[in-house]
Parts: sequence; C-alpha cells; structure tokens
Amino acid sequence: MSKKDQKKVKRQPVSSLKGMNDILPADQPWWDRIRKAVKEIAGFYNFLKIETPVMEKLELFKRPLGDTSDVVEKQMFSFKTKGGDEVVLRPEGTASIVRSYIEHGLSHLGQPLKLWYEGPMFRYEQPQAGRTRQFHQAGFEIISSDNDPVYDVQTMLACYRTLDDLKIKNINLQINSIGCNKCRPIYRKNLLEYYKNKEKSLCGDCKRRIHTNPMRLLDCKVSGCVELKKEAPQTIDNLCSDCRKHFKKVLEYLEELKLPYMLNPLLVRGFDYYTKTVFEIFAEGFDFALGAGGRYDYLIELMGGRQSPGVGGAMGLERIIEVMKTKEISLGNRVRPKIFLIHIGDTAKKRSLVLIEELREAGIDVMEQLGKDSLNAQLRTANKFEAPLSLIFGQKEAFEQSIIIRDMKTGAQETVPLKKIVAAIKRKMH
Ligand code: HAM
Repeated sequence: MSKKDQKKVKRQPVSSLKGMNDILPADQPWWDRIRKAVKEIAGFYNFLKIETPVMEKLELFKRPLGDTSDVVEKQMFSFKTKGGDEVVLRPEGTASIVRSYIEHGLSHLGQPLKLWYEGPMFRYEQPQAGRTRQFHQAGFEIISSDNDPVYDVQTMLACYRTLDDLKIKNINLQINSIGCNKCRPIYRKNLLEYYKNKEKSLCGDCKRRIHTNPMRLLDCKVSGCVELKKEAPQTIDNLCSDCRKHFKKVLEYLEELKLPYMLNPLLVRGFDYYTKTVFEIFAEGFDFALGAGGRYDYLIELMGGRQSPGVGGAMGLERIIEVMKTKEISLGNRVRPKIFLIHIGDTAKKRSLVLIEELREAGIDVMEQLGKDSLNAQLRTANKFEAPLSLIFGQKEAFEQSIIIRDMKTGAQETVPLKKIVAAIKRKMH
C-alpha cells in the first residue's frame, strides 16, 4: 500500500470490552454518594477498611466457592501469566479477605474482626440489566472465634442501613438457614429422595446439578423446575438443634431491631462456603438482588487458617445506582457553584495563573478557561456552569492591578483592587 493509500484508511476506534463499562464524569456524583454512605456506615459500626488485589491465584476461589458453582464453572476471568501462574480476576471479595486474614494473621487485630471493602469484581456472564462483567461491590465481613448470631444480624444491618441512608425505600430482606456440616448431608439425602423419580422433568442444568450440587436445584428459575421445587423438602425443616437455635436468635435480633424480613425457604445461594444463615436484599420492583451474603463457618479452616467462623454480605453498586435512578432518588448534594475567572489578553492570562493560586489558598473555588481567548466563549461557559460571580480580568485591569467582579444574575459590576479581591468575593458570596 502506498503512503497515500495508507493515509486514506480510516482507523477503527478501539471500544471497551463487552460488559465492562466506563464510569463517565456525569455518573461520578452517584458513585461518590454511594461510597460516602458505605464509608460512613462502616465507620459507625466499627468496620476496618481492607483492600486486596484484583488479581489472585485461581486456586483461591475454586474450592471455597465450589468446583460446581456457576462462578467457578463458567464465569471466571482466568488466564496464565507469562511466568506460568494460573490467575483470575477476582469474582468476589470474601475469599480474598479470608486469604489476607490468614496470610497476615489479622486475628491479632481483635475479636470479632470487622472488615469492609469496596472495589471491582469480575464475572464472565451474559450482560443484561443489573448484570455486567466488571461490577463493583461494597462488603462487610465479621470474623470471630465464636459464631454469635448477633454478627449475622450486624452484617445484614450494615447493608440495610447503607440502602436506608441512600433513601431506598421498601427494602426486602430475604433470609434462610441452610444448616451446617452436621445437618446438611441429611437434608441433601432427603432432597435426592424427593427428586429420585422426577429427574426426567428437570431442565438440562438441573439434571446435571442433581449429581453435582443438588441444593442448587432450589435456585432454578425454569418453570418446570420451579413447580417441582414447591413441594421439595425445605432446609429449615431439617436443621440440627444447634442450627435451629442459631437461626431463632438471628430472627429474634432482627425483630428487636424492627428490620423487616421475609423467610425464603428456597434461598440457597451459589457458593459452597455458606453455612447456616443466608440472605439476599431486594428493592421493590426489581428482580435482581442489591446485596447478599451469609455465614461461612468452615471457610477459614478450609483455606488453611485456624477454625474461625465468619459472616458477611456484599452489595452491588451498579445495581444500587440503577435503583436510585429509576426511583428518581435525588442525590441531595448539589456541587458547590464556583466563581468563574475570565481573562482578556496575554498579560491578564499570565497574571491569572498566580491569581488562581491565591484564590485556592483563600479557599475560593474557581473555574477558568485560560486556553480560550474569546470573551463571549468564556461568558457562555460561566453561564453554562451557573457561576454566581465572574471575575473579569482585562488588559486595563491587569495594568491597574484591579479586577471586575460581575454578578452573573443581575449583571451588576464592580471594580476592586486585586489586593482586596478575596475579601470582596467573600462579601458577595454571603
Ligand atoms: P453475590 O451474591 O455473588 O455474593 O454478590 C453480591 C452482590 O453483588 C449481588 O447481590 C449483586 O448486587 C452484585 N453482583 C453480583 N454479580 C453481579 C454482576 N455480574 N453484575 C452486577 N452486580 C453483581 C458475593 O459475592 C459474596 N461474596 C457476598 C458475601 C460476603 N458473602 C459473605 N460475605
């Protein structure tokens, strides 16, 4: 191809990956608002912040989440590094937190240890409403030497209060207990017994699940399977006395707090690490969960740590934003308007560089367009951003060491000496 022809070829712009979205400036106020709420709630309930890498060893998630879980089977962003390590972009936060807890001996930080986190997670799923491949979670985890049911309620409360703080009304907390290593095998046996002669009526996925992870049958949304599971034995009727006592206490504490909840005997969750309490949180009118979690009493031991029960929950931040936008919940924190500095001519432009620094030191927020010379263009921008005041700095003013302050609403103008500019602005802003 000649050089001339090469020039003619139009370059295709590179787009983002499917299901991985930019968070553009217009959406940043939503993210700021949610992150502020999570941080404040975490601070109030004494959770300590922890951050773990987005990339981890593949093995970290395989066993804890379960080899037959949807996430491990189909949704891992996994690959080999140049050094030959099998790694994965984390699909969730809990396993990473537990890894870090064991690796750094975090039990010395106190009992119970309450941790919170926020950041991107990755799952190779079919993008749809409320489901993306890169999404963000904020989560709370409580690890302790005992499995006091009060901790179950404290994690639910932290999620609940975050949504409350964001003015999301009619939150629906669904809860169940799926038992422990003692009672779950008995339940599984009962479940298999129930499905014994019904296998041919199950969907393809459930025909497979019945041999790998029968409890996941309760999670199926295919109509034939939904019908069948209505009559299936329920986890709650098969709990051992320890699990029953635990669950009773959890419900008692929820009632004491007047946190409305709904028992959902079909709630089982998708990861193997869960024991006893599991929960999911919904907003009215949406069929995706805003948050979810549960207890994981054997996870730390399974991952090589000392036996310490844990419980936690995580919320999906994109989903929260979607709900807030659909329900037209106001952010309630309008950005403080800035004053606008208009320059005319080279001398004023140069002097403006220093003037902006002086205003910054005085705590005055200022916007400028030093790259634009046209007075009209600058005035238009000042209007667009609804600046209450403009400072007009022209050749004459620069020469006389003065500046014009213009009230953008009334159009009234006043010339003040540069030395007195801070006081003059403060006077007009009040
Ligand atoms: P999870 O239910 O897989 O649980 O995810 C928690 C929340 O993350 C969901 O309720 C949802 O809001 C959001 N989420 C999950 N997948 C997506 C997606 N593809 N797109 C958008 N949002 C999504 C966990 O991850 C557990 N680690 C929660 C936990 C913490 N359990 C104990 N501690």
